[in-house]
Amino acid sequence: MKLAVVGGGSTYTPELIDGFARLRDVLPLAELVLIDPAADRLELVGGLARRIFAKQGHPGRISWTSDLDAGVDGADAVLLQLRVGGQAARNQDETWPLECGCVGQETTGAGGLAKALRTVPVVLDIAERVRRRNPDAWIVDFTNPVGIVTRALLTEGHRAVGLCNVAIGFQRKFARLLGVTPEQVELEHVGLNHLTWERAVRVDGEDVLPRLLAEHGDAVAEDLHMPRSLVDRLGVVPSYYLRYYYQHDEVVRELRRKPSRAAEVAAIEKQLLEMYGDESLDEKPELLAKRGGAFYSEAAVALTSSLLRDTGDTQIVNTFNNGTLPFLPDDAVIEVPAMVGATGARPLPVRPLEPLFSGLIANVTAYERLALDAALKGGRDRVFQALLAHPLIGQIAYAEQLTDDLLAHNREHLTWA
Ligand code: G6P
Ligand code: MN
Repeated sequence: MKLAVVGGGSTYTPELIDGFARLRDVLPLAELVLIDPAADRLELVGGLARRIFAKQGHPGRISWTSDLDAGVDGADAVLLQLRVGGQAARNQDETWPLECGCVGQETTGAGGLAKALRTVPVVLDIAERVRRRNPDAWIVDFTNPVGIVTRALLTEGHRAVGLCNVAIGFQRKFARLLGVTPEQVELEHVGLNHLTWERAVRVDGEDVLPRLLAEHGDAVAEDLHMPRSLVDRLGVVPSYYLRYYYQHDEVVRELRRKPSRAAEVAAIEKQLLEMYGDESLDEKPELLAKRGGAFYSEAAVALTSSLLRDTGDTQIVNTFNNGTLPFLPDDAVIEVPAMVGATGARPLPVRPLEPLFSGLIANVTAYERLALDAALKGGRDRVFQALLAHPLIGQIAYAEQLTDDLLAHNREHLTWA
């Protein structure tokens, strides 16, 4: 089995390698290629990756290259984890929207739109090159904004599935609180990427969410940085990204007072790269836990294994709606449990959703559709429309200003701007 990782020079990669090494029975890799335009990073990350495999006695071969076409040649699956413009572009996304009093975040609101505009054309070009070489290869997309990027890939007919670590993070957290193994915990997870709720938490078939909230409500709420009373009143567990909606103005005030997450991450990355260069390091360092990607290797291994080994088991992924949420178009991309096998992901049926959730989901889906149009076709008016449709923006004055700011800060990445 051959796997290629685009964005393989990411400081996150050792997390992935650690997962591949530990879970080699689930996903037996013969060959792994790290692909990245940043050759200097590849050397550091690739070197550590080889040492992690060697230490854990993994027989797989690891190589790296900046040549995408050569790297993906013969791959059974290609993982996308790239970031167009790096942390510098992310820093912009997190900063200029705040000046309008709007949230500055890499996947939510105007910053998320900027990221989508920069990213969709790059990802589609990569996917096309992958398909030309290996028409049967699967694309596993971690690249944000995952909902919009996956919709772009699927709309172009690519064999793609979108993945995020929010669901697996909840599964692990709840298992720990309940004193059971993660495999025993099954989530009724519903929504769009970074806009989801856990409606039930089943342990051996029984919904223990009411008990979980009664016994561990404080711990759950604290993790989300949301008031316990909100979680109790919803009766479901929102993802921490819902904070940008439910507590928008409060978050804006907080964000204005502190350095951006991009700046924090850039400092962590500098340290990580120094560590990766140390030849005596042969495991994923503790410091990596300061990044948001916990358990993403487990999620990637499980999903890739389901696709390549045709397991037909359930994974929480991003894929076409196809009638699952009846109030959305079939070609909307939703994040739900799905049956995954060699033909891809098929969402499992979802119980009817209350308006408290379906309203926001429908609104953000419409925004995502407009965002994708803007990313594919360009044009100031399309950017403006997407911003106007976004539930966190919605007013002409903000949409006008944010359109100007978005274009001004992203010209080097947008061929049409
Ligand atoms: C979570 C999200 C990812 C996001 C990451 C950011 O894992 O699910 O989509 O990329 O957080 O983490 P960072 O350490 O870069 O802030
Ligand atoms: Mn995510």
